[in-house]
Amino acid sequence: MSLRPGLGSVILTCLGLTLLASACATQPATGVGQPPQEPPALSLAQKYSSYFPIGAAVDPDSIHTHAALLEQHFNSITTENEMKFESLEKAEGVFDYTTADSMVAYARGHGMKVRGHTLVWHRQTPDWVFVDASGAPASRDVLLARLKNHILNVVGHFKGSVYAWDVVNEVITDDGKYRTADETEPDQRSPWHGILGTSYVAAAFRYAHEADPDAKLFYNDYRNYIPAKRQAIYEMLKQLLAEGVPIHGVGLQCHLSIEPSPVATNHGYYQTIPELEATIELYSSLGLAVQVTEFDMSLYVPGVTYTADTYYTEATFTPELAAKQARRYGEFFELFRKHRDVITGVTFWGIADDNTWLSEFKSGRRDFPLLFDAKHQPKPAFDAVVGF
Ligand code: XIL
Repeated sequence: MSLRPGLGSVILTCLGLTLLASACATQPATGVGQPPQEPPALSLAQKYSSYFPIGAAVDPDSIHTHAALLEQHFNSITTENEMKFESLEKAEGVFDYTTADSMVAYARGHGMKVRGHTLVWHRQTPDWVFVDASGAPASRDVLLARLKNHILNVVGHFKGSVYAWDVVNEVITDDGKYRTADETEPDQRSPWHGILGTSYVAAAFRYAHEADPDAKLFYNDYRNYIPAKRQAIYEMLKQLLAEGVPIHGVGLQCHLSIEPSPVATNHGYYQTIPELEATIELYSSLGLAVQVTEFDMSLYVPGVTYTADTYYTEATFTPELAAKQARRYGEFFELFRKHRDVITGVTFWGIADDNTWLSEFKSGRRDFPLLFDAKHQPKPAFDAVVGF
């Protein structure tokens, strides 16, 4: 570290004029005519450097529009959509890595780690994957071959650049059952399960490991704090490990809300610190690492009905609400720090409130779930997360 201009002359003056020693003690370090220096800017990732990497989901725009925040506060990225099946293999055997590669290059240029998201999911997967040339459901063999080809190609391509993969995403439903092709809501159905049963989960991990034996392989899911879901995921992972399936960790998405649901039948009822702690402890008891993979905190409480006139705006996201959000942020990060021995990464699903998937619903409802506001200024939640 170099002395600031002016500081040297102040010291020399003091050495020569011992009579003024007491005055020197209170002399400001800045030289005459120099503006006072700003304290060094606090970095979230640096503050957490002895705990775990701090990540953000990014898109091809945000690595430019949010570069200042990203480079100051984060040392890991996840591509929000650009490594999903539909982004990389739109047509069978035609792989396009252009966008994802540019994001990986950005991360490398800034010394950031990269998490890969996600190889197998029931969403954002092209229709061709599940049908044959006549439009009938693909056979088991065909689907398994497509799964293998996709994973070997993608994981092979990013070998050495992506250190951890969300291999399989969202296999278990909230009631603790395997997600099937017959779920009530169309967008909840898994054609993977419809054709392959549960076997695709183990297969996906084996292919990923074959393609990159050094990559850390994760099972990723949401609402893992619901006891039935937590337990079902645990049983599945335990069984996979017993079969020798190469799985190294569990991703907790952690799309949270500003308070747990007041409705006992709602999933959000269990969204508490003790339930999430039980989840971390249960999964790590299997010897698995745990990562928080998609953290954000919605202002909307699950189980409460909102209408256009009760949607939050900049104006109704009051300081009181920001303080409430900050308190809950602080509590969850305290929990994560407490479990630093098993938590190997915490990633936010976005960077600042002007770019969050929670504001992308058709209803036009806006949300304010991240640490930085729409003007990229730190919110009270930021202070709560670094204030320890
Ligand atoms: C979301 C993206 O943020 C959106 O841009 C996209 O339209 C839909 O997917 N769980 C996941 C993520 O595992 O992949 C999802 O990302 C959010 C929920």
